[in-house]
Amino acid sequence: MSDYASDTLNDLTPEPTGARRVVVLISGNGSNLQALIDEQTHDRLGGEIVAVISNVADAYGLQRARDAGIDAVVLPHGEYDSREAYDGALIKVIERHEPDLVVLAGFMRILSSRFVQRFHGRMLNIHPSLLPAYRGLNTHAKALADGVAEHGCSVHFVTEELDGGPVAIQAVVNVSGDETETSLKEKVHTREHLIYPIAVKWFLEGRLRLVGETAVLDGTPLPPHGLRLSHADAAEELDEDHDDA
Ligand code: GRF
Repeated sequence: MSDYASDTLNDLTPEPTGARRVVVLISGNGSNLQALIDEQTHDRLGGEIVAVISNVADAYGLQRARDAGIDAVVLPHGEYDSREAYDGALIKVIERHEPDLVVLAGFMRILSSRFVQRFHGRMLNIHPSLLPAYRGLNTHAKALADGVAEHGCSVHFVTEELDGGPVAIQAVVNVSGDETETSLKEKVHTREHLIYPIAVKWFLEGRLRLVGETAVLDGTPLPPHGLRLSHADAAEELDEDHDDA
């Protein structure tokens, strides 16, 4: 042992850094969770999903987690008297898993401000619209009713404003003349599965950060709509037919 070795110096030796840890919250099908699991399986996520937590006991996403050998936890909201009590319990379960990032993937709950603040700057959500358009529910029906030419999805940091946090990335779909809610939802889903793993990887690699009220990628502040993938760009990534209106 060197003469200079001391407990103080040893304390400064950095711990070996393990894989960045991700906790995913779901309420249902979990197709976005699956997209993340698939990236992880191919070692492309930049970290490890260490737990999936659902507020709904029979959410199919729990099965997806178990099939992938990921800890699947049910925390039913019905067993708590208030939002605050539930969110307090949820914070405890999440923190037990020591995540670097919390990913909301179809977690159908309004979050208390205590919860949002606890994971400020390290919680992402995916929303099925080109934010700031169509916050809240029924986004596809609203877009169709408005006759928009473009719709899509956005990954954003979670802040106290519902679906209002800074956007990291969004992907556009062209809305065709014969579009139905079902076909539009399907199109948007393919893009969700493309962009969510990208944003999660950026974050886990330290490339994406929330600085004040702005999403920053590789040190450059992103515009309010984040990095935007056009319909054609996404179609190419997804190997889709390009003649899609
Ligand atoms: C997605 O449309 C997502 O944008 C929204 O909830 C839905 C979840 O779908 N937040 P899934 O459970 O990932 O299939």
